[in-house]
Amino acid sequence: MTATTSKAPRESQTVMTTIVLASETNAHNNMFGGDLLALMDRACAIAAMRHSQFEVVTVSVSHVSFDQPIPLGTTIEVVAKVSKSFGSSMEVFADVWIDDISTHKKTKSNQGVYIFVAVNDNMKPVKVPELVPETEEEKERFMGAQQRRELSLIMSGKLNPKEAIELKKLFLD
Ligand SMILES: CC(C)(COP(=O)(O)OP(=O)(O)OC[C@H]1O[C@@H](n2cnc3c(N)ncnc32)[C@H](O)[C@@H]1OP(=O)(O)O)[C@@H](O)C(=O)NCCC(=O)NCCS
Repeated sequence: MTATTSKAPRESQTVMTTIVLASETNAHNNMFGGDLLALMDRACAIAAMRHSQFEVVTVSVSHVSFDQPIPLGTTIEVVAKVSKSFGSSMEVFADVWIDDISTHKKTKSNQGVYIFVAVNDNMKPVKVPELVPETEEEKERFMGAQQRRELSLIMSGKLNPKEAIELKKLFLD
């Protein structure tokens, strides 16, 4: 059962703003990567729940970039949005921004791609609404999602590389 057949990415957008505390830092006084990943996972899970209107579980985390350190005391914003839905699974992008409160300048520090599966009360996968991208960035992410899904399935041993039709196009086109 699904409430609607299609949704826009903006309907799942989730923004989580927080400040980096000492308990979340490494020996260099920068944010510990594991804490950041957990925060991104949480924001993405909420976005996936907003899209599917079901409980969700994480099945894959990939393409995580740590472009610059995030010092103690920094205000960060995690923006999560569904980028494509398949059957029961959804790809969700998390973009992390350092928010300089004094200048209002936001600098991108990290990005990650999460895949969630919507499940019912018996932990069985359920079908989710289609995603209809609107902005240029949403369309670009939507277009690349099938290749990233095939890569993730190959790496987890769930897809024979020979069957990765979209991924092959990356190398052959
Ligand atoms: C998610 C779960 C319910 C899937 O159950 P299942 O019966 O094996 O279901 P399937 O194999 O049909 O997979 C369901 C969907 O996930 C996708 N999927 C599974 N593993 C994937 C991976 N590594 N990468 C991308 N997609 C994946 C499948 O392609 C399928 O997608 P679709 O329905 O959109 O076509 C089950 O694997 C599970 O409970 N996993 C543990 C999840 C969890 O606890 N996460 C938290 C970790 S801390």
